[in-house]
Amino acid sequence: MRLKQRFEQKFDEEIRFFKGMMQGPKTVGAIVPTSSVTARKMASVINPQSGLPVLELGPGTGVITKQILARGIPAEKIYSIEYSEDFYQRLTQDYPGVNFIHGDAFDIEATLGSMANQTFDCVISAVPMLSFPMSSRITLLEKLLDRLPAGRPVVQITYGPVSPIVANPERYHIQHFDFVVRNIPPAQLWIYRRG
Ligand SMILES: C[S@@+](CC[C@H](N)C(=O)[O-])C[C@H]1O[C@@H](n2cnc3c(N)ncnc32)[C@H](O)[C@@H]1O
Repeated sequence: MRLKQRFEQKFDEEIRFFKGMMQGPKTVGAIVPTSSVTARKMASVINPQSGLPVLELGPGTGVITKQILARGIPAEKIYSIEYSEDFYQRLTQDYPGVNFIHGDAFDIEATLGSMANQTFDCVISAVPMLSFPMSSRITLLEKLLDRLPAGRPVVQITYGPVSPIVANPERYHIQHFDFVVRNIPPAQLWIYRRG
């Protein structure tokens, strides 16, 4: 019975994801939802002892949100920005208590509103960076790092072979975090931090 429920849930997630793809393939940027293995690895960077909220970008079907909750972060300490109206509506039903914000992560000040000056523990991002110009990716990264304590990570999923954000050692450090083969397509995880 549990297996049947899990299968139905996975199927439902994939249908929703496919609908999202049909509406805006560039804004979705993947072909199926992130695997739970990948999502768990991304959420592993969280320090639940920090007491700080976690910022998520591009939650989509909520696979990564689920793993953030599984790290013991209370729903009200998760802020999660989703651009698609459909995904947003569904997320608010599936994960009650999580602070989902319907908006554009690249316009972070406006989108965060009253939380614009908040310090977060870390950022977990699934926004499709490669769909945006390099200058926008760098600007977003800088704005995210400004909202973290020094040394805390922005973790980003991507599908290309190299970091989706160019190196700038004077501003931030880049670390290749993982290559997850159990993801469709296989995913690269990158970490960015200030010194
Ligand atoms: C690759 S999908 C991530 C999917 C999610 N990890 C999952 O498995 O369901 C990218 C997500 O980023 C969202 N997105 C794209 N552009 C965005 C933006 N500018 N701001 C916030 N979210 C954005 C898309 O709507 C989509 O939900």
